[in-house]
Amino acid sequence: MTITNYRIAVLLSGSGSNLQALIDARATGTLPAEIALVVCDRAAAYGIQRALSNNIPAIFAPLNRPRHGPSRAAWELQLADLINLFAVDLVLLSGFMRVLSASFLERCYAPVINQHPALLPDGGGENVTVDGITIPALRGAHVVADALRLGLPITGCTIHRATPIVDDGPILARASVPVLPGDDEAVLHERIKAEERRLIVEVVARLAGEAM
Ligand code: GRF
Repeated sequence: MTITNYRIAVLLSGSGSNLQALIDARATGTLPAEIALVVCDRAAAYGIQRALSNNIPAIFAPLNRPRHGPSRAAWELQLADLINLFAVDLVLLSGFMRVLSASFLERCYAPVINQHPALLPDGGGENVTVDGITIPALRGAHVVADALRLGLPITGCTIHRATPIVDDGPILARASVPVLPGDDEAVLHERIKAEERRLIVEVVARLAGEAM
């Protein structure tokens, strides 16, 4: 196994198949990074089970009972402080269904990157051109359905540095997939996620290599 002290935190809300790709890549020696922490805001998310069954420290950090619990701003700062305690080198938003503000990004010592299941352009903008095809840049929480609704010929995935602007920030990697006749949201999302799982291992390995 590769010896490394490059540590990552993965924040998720869902199935965690991207986390699993990182766990598998680490196990086979293709990822020189340690998954030091998984944070999940939904108790039912399968991703937290993946962390627990692989002996990865996992923390349940829901934003709930806003009238009684901490305010959203306080929750974000607590979350950043918690992540900082684990002394990670990178924070990965991997299907974490909460928008995190500038205060969170500023409070985190480590850079924060985000996985987005659609193609985003370099430098922001309304359109993105990939493989000679120009399509609208899809942002928000329903981009797989949006790609189908708009009848796009291609869609894909992007990994980018997180900034206070949602689904924006310097692009680290991108991959396209075709939208095929008969696709529904689940089928198309799974085609995108297959690329996301490949890409996230590449990107984290690259960032770990650059940091060594
Ligand atoms: C991915 O499509 C990611 O881009 C999006 O949420 C999904 C997470 O998938 N933000 P999984 O939980 O890793 O399977």
